[in-house]
Amino acid sequence: MKKDQPSVKEAFTSSTNRADYVQSMFGSIANRYDFMNSIMTGGRHHFWRRLVAEELVTPGDIVVDVGCGTGDLSFACLKQSASQAIGIDFARPMLPIALEKAKKLSTKDKFTVTVGDATSLPIADDSVDAWCSAFVIRNIPDMDAAFYEAWRILKPGGKIAILEITKMQPSLLRPFIRLHFNHVVPFIGKIISRHNSAYEYLPVSVDQFETREELCARLDKAGFNINVVRSLMFRTITLLVATKPKLP
Ligand SMILES: C[S@@+](CC[C@H](N)C(=O)[O-])C[C@H]1O[C@@H](n2cnc3c(N)ncnc32)[C@H](O)[C@@H]1O
Repeated sequence: MKKDQPSVKEAFTSSTNRADYVQSMFGSIANRYDFMNSIMTGGRHHFWRRLVAEELVTPGDIVVDVGCGTGDLSFACLKQSASQAIGIDFARPMLPIALEKAKKLSTKDKFTVTVGDATSLPIADDSVDAWCSAFVIRNIPDMDAAFYEAWRILKPGGKIAILEITKMQPSLLRPFIRLHFNHVVPFIGKIISRHNSAYEYLPVSVDQFETREELCARLDKAGFNINVVRSLMFRTITLLVATKPKLP
């Protein structure tokens, strides 16, 4: 493991430090990201992305997958008959892995990738049918700016879908889930990802994040009409789907 990797504490000293930390951390674990995902979720992560695609995509849609990582949400949307998926991520090393997977899945003609930031998308106003992100929004210090961008690029009537780990409300299960997130995941994550703090960042970022209700309120305030709210994996994961209203 590299000694010069920044600590989680350093990441949270400012929004700029946090965005830099997230970009560099995901860049450095890109090669091991898929494997770690499968270990952490027991392979369930594919099922969750399929649910997002089922709730979000109408056949023929142009979909933007923000924070696409290695592309799995884009591929789920294409399987659901999207006509095109545009993957955007600011961690450059994720993108060749996504493109390689697209080749293997024979979806490379319908899948493009671009290096870019969720808060400043290289996409024209009112031009896409769907905006989605899986496990990304929690990492963005200025979430409202990301929602503003989603609104800007969506056609009226277009949809936004968010899959995210949200802060848990008190429950009987919460101590066990915290044990998993705070101790088991960082321990395994450190060994597999060979990054000192990547999976220590995960529980801290969840603790600092919002509850499902707070996230709904934020989307509502941004002007979206909420259509779907689902809790998954013992209520640790939230799926939200909302619509940009059509013009009156
Ligand atoms: C946990 S991974 C999720 C990847 C993928 N969506 C998935 O479901 O496997 C988070 C991804 O979001 C990207 N990301 C985080 N903040 C971003 C931002 N502001 N702009 C673009 N990408 C961002 C990271 O680089 C990383 O690849």
